[in-house]
Amino acid sequence: MEKTLGRVLIGKYSELPDRLGKTFFVRDEEIALFKLVNGDVRAIENRCPHKGGVLAEGMVSGDHVFCPMHDWKINVCDGQVQAPDHGCVRTYQVEVEEDLVYIII
Ligand code: FES
Repeated sequence: MEKTLGRVLIGKYSELPDRLGKTFFVRDEEIALFKLVNGDVRAIENRCPHKGGVLAEGMVSGDHVFCPMHDWKINVCDGQVQAPDHGCVRTYQVEVEEDLVYIII
């Protein structure tokens, strides 16, 4: 079972770039945070399950990020790699309160 440590403040919503990833380090985890075109914020593990590409540096399109190394397409909402590739990354719950963004980890 994964240990839940609680809610961690990571920054201001107004300072997140639109449709770009940003890397955060929370405890021992490296997390890619994305503000989507609809304003939702999603957080996933920052390493591609293929060969470890840094997902925060990938192109964002809709609910997906394209790994910058070999273009695997990963859903930032459920962490699933899209066919024809396969695998998944961990997802993290995000909470936004007024202008503050929290990760539940
Ligand atoms: S490392 Fe991400 S697609 Fe290869």
